[in-house]
Amino acid sequence: MNSVTATEEVVPLNDLRRHADALAEPIHAATMRVIRSGWFVLGPELEAFEREFAAYCGANHGVGVANGTEAIELALRAFDIGPGDEVVVAANAGMYSTTALLAIGSTPIYADVREHDLTLDPEAVRHAISPRTRAIIATHLYGRLADVVALRAIADSHGLAFIEDCAQAHGCSRDGVRAGAWGDAATFSFYPTKNLGACGDAGLVTCRSADTAARLRRLRQYGWGDKYVVVDGPARNSRLDEMQAAILREKLPHLEGWNARRRKIAAMYAAVETTALRYPDVSGADYVAHLFVVRTSHRDALRRHLSARRIASDVHYPVLDNEQPRVDRRDLSAGLPQSVRAAAEILTLPCFPEMTDAEVGRVCDALREWRS
Ligand SMILES: Cc1ncc(COP(=O)(O)O)c(C=O)c1O
Repeated sequence: MNSVTATEEVVPLNDLRRHADALAEPIHAATMRVIRSGWFVLGPELEAFEREFAAYCGANHGVGVANGTEAIELALRAFDIGPGDEVVVAANAGMYSTTALLAIGSTPIYADVREHDLTLDPEAVRHAISPRTRAIIATHLYGRLADVVALRAIADSHGLAFIEDCAQAHGCSRDGVRAGAWGDAATFSFYPTKNLGACGDAGLVTCRSADTAARLRRLRQYGWGDKYVVVDGPARNSRLDEMQAAILREKLPHLEGWNARRRKIAAMYAAVETTALRYPDVSGADYVAHLFVVRTSHRDALRRHLSARRIASDVHYPVLDNEQPRVDRRDLSAGLPQSVRAAAEILTLPCFPEMTDAEVGRVCDALREWRS
C-alpha cells in the first residue's frame, strides 16, 4: 500500500551535502594544509595521491589530470593515436570516450554490448576491428567490470592498446585484480558523484609502463620536458590541482566502506521479488554499484510510479553516442541491437552510500508495489 504523504522528503538520486558533511573537518584541514603551503599545482599532494591511488588499484603508475574525459584523451595521445585512426568503443557510455576521440580526430567505431551487463561484447569487438584500428576502450559501465580477460586477449592478438574507462568503477575487481590494473592504461574521473569524488573536477590515468607514465606527465603540461621546453605533443594543459589531490587523499581510505554500503543497498533492491523488472547482477566484487540500473519495457510508467512516491530516478543514458550530433554514423551495418534496446528500457534508482535505511526501504516498497 502507498503510505506516502505530500510532505515526505524526496529520496534523491544523490546528495553531496550529506557526503561532504560527514567529512567536513578533514576536508577543511586538507584544504587549509594546501592553502598554507602556497603550492597549488603539481606538488607533493598530487605526487602522494598518484602513488596512493595507483597502489590501491594495483597499477604501476598514476598520473593526475584535470578530469575523466581528458584522461581518456591523454591516454589515447600517449599511444600516438590521432587523426585517421579507429578506436572500438561502446555507444551506450555517455559520450565521454567519443568526446575524447573527436578531440584528437580519431574515429569511434561502435561495437554492441552484452545483454546481461551492457558492457562491450567481445564478439562484436572482434567484428569491429579493421586495419586502421589502434585501440579498444572498455567502459566499466554503472560500476561493472567489463569482460577484461577476453577484451585484453583481443587487443593483444591484434596489437592494439587496451584502455579501461574506470570513471564509474573505482574499486571493482575480478580475481582480485582491480579496475585500473587490467589495461595498458586506465582512466578515472573523480567528478563529485563518482564512487571516489573530488570537490570539483579531477581525473587520473593509471598505466603499466614507466614510459607511458612519463609521456602522460609531458602531455598533461604543454608537452614540456624541462620547463618551457616542448619535447612532446600534441599536448594539453590538464592538471589535477593540489587542493583536489589533498581532498581525494582524505577520501580514499573511505572508498571501500562506501562501496560496501552501495553494494548492500543494491543487494536490498535486488532482493525485492518482482517479475516486472530486471535487476543487475549484484553478487560479485566486479560490481561496485556506482549506478543501480533496472530494465523495464514500461519505463515511463515506472518513473511516474516512483515520482508519485517522491523517489527520484534518471536515465543513464537516453541517447547513444552514434545518434548524437557531429558523430560519424558510418560502419553500423551490423547495428547495435542490444544498445538500442537498453537505451529504451534502462532506469537508474537512488543508490549512494549516505542513503538512510528508511530511504532504501521506501525504494524497496515502491519496487514491491510496481506492476507493469
Ligand atoms: C564512464 C565515464 N567516462 C568518463 C567520464 C568523464 O569524466 P569527467 O566528467 O570527469 O570528464 C564519466 C563521467 O562523467 C563517465 O561516467
